[in-house]
Amino acid sequence: MARAGLDKNPREVAEMFDGVAKGYDRTNSVMTLGFDRRWREWSRRVLDAKPGEKVLDLAAGTAVSTVEYAASGAWCVAADFSLGMLLGGAHRPVPKVAADALRLPFADDSFDAVTVSFGLRNFNDTEAALREMARVVKPGGRLVVCEVSTPTFRPFRFVYMRHLLRVLPLIARFVSSNPEAYKYLAESMRTWPDQRALGEVVARAGWEDVAWMNLTGGMVALHRGTKPAPPEPA
Ligand SMILES: C[S@@+](CC[C@H](N)C(=O)[O-])C[C@H]1O[C@@H](n2cnc3c(N)ncnc32)[C@H](O)[C@@H]1O
Repeated sequence: MARAGLDKNPREVAEMFDGVAKGYDRTNSVMTLGFDRRWREWSRRVLDAKPGEKVLDLAAGTAVSTVEYAASGAWCVAADFSLGMLLGGAHRPVPKVAADALRLPFADDSFDAVTVSFGLRNFNDTEAALREMARVVKPGGRLVVCEVSTPTFRPFRFVYMRHLLRVLPLIARFVSSNPEAYKYLAESMRTWPDQRALGEVVARAGWEDVAWMNLTGGMVALHRGTKPAPPEPA
């Protein structure tokens, strides 16, 4: 079965997600002890999409997050480059688009908000993807990123980084259709920037008013930002 490396070759990443698509939602809930639902609820609250708004849910996978956002009455589209993942969510009543985060098939300034949950870490150029997201959002539009992060309580951080992430692939042997993929997952979690460092990448990519909040002791963080309005003509 496919397993991506830390160079995050797009073809390998897409194949790996095709391989875990079957049963992804169930495996995700088991591996996160059901916290995934709460993280999605928090993402929806921070996104605060209104009826009539257009929202892009990038790296949406099986669209489990997209339906959560669509419950607000906004028009939400799920985009992902793994056809396996999109097909896994075929029963979910939201529009779905096969798309690479680094070359989005949308015009400039198309959306009121863009969001990505547990996807940003898999893109092979984080900053370029954040710039591409800014391109498709209207000036004043919002970004919400939900991603694994660094636990804030130092003793727990040590245990989590040193031990818990090593256990993850072992648990995956029992619940996932592709346990190899969870080795990549654990490696990519260990090497991912902490809250502040990611905030700096988001700001460098052109988003302003960047802020973050920790969820579940910082194991997950929500980053938000706003696309700057164009300068007033002189
Ligand atoms: C861990 S899943 C997250 C799915 C969903 N957002 C969730 O919260 O359950 C990561 C998703 O990112 C997608 N992905 C990774 N790199 C991508 C890229 N360059 N363009 C589009 N999707 C990508 C994968 O196909 C996969 O479906």
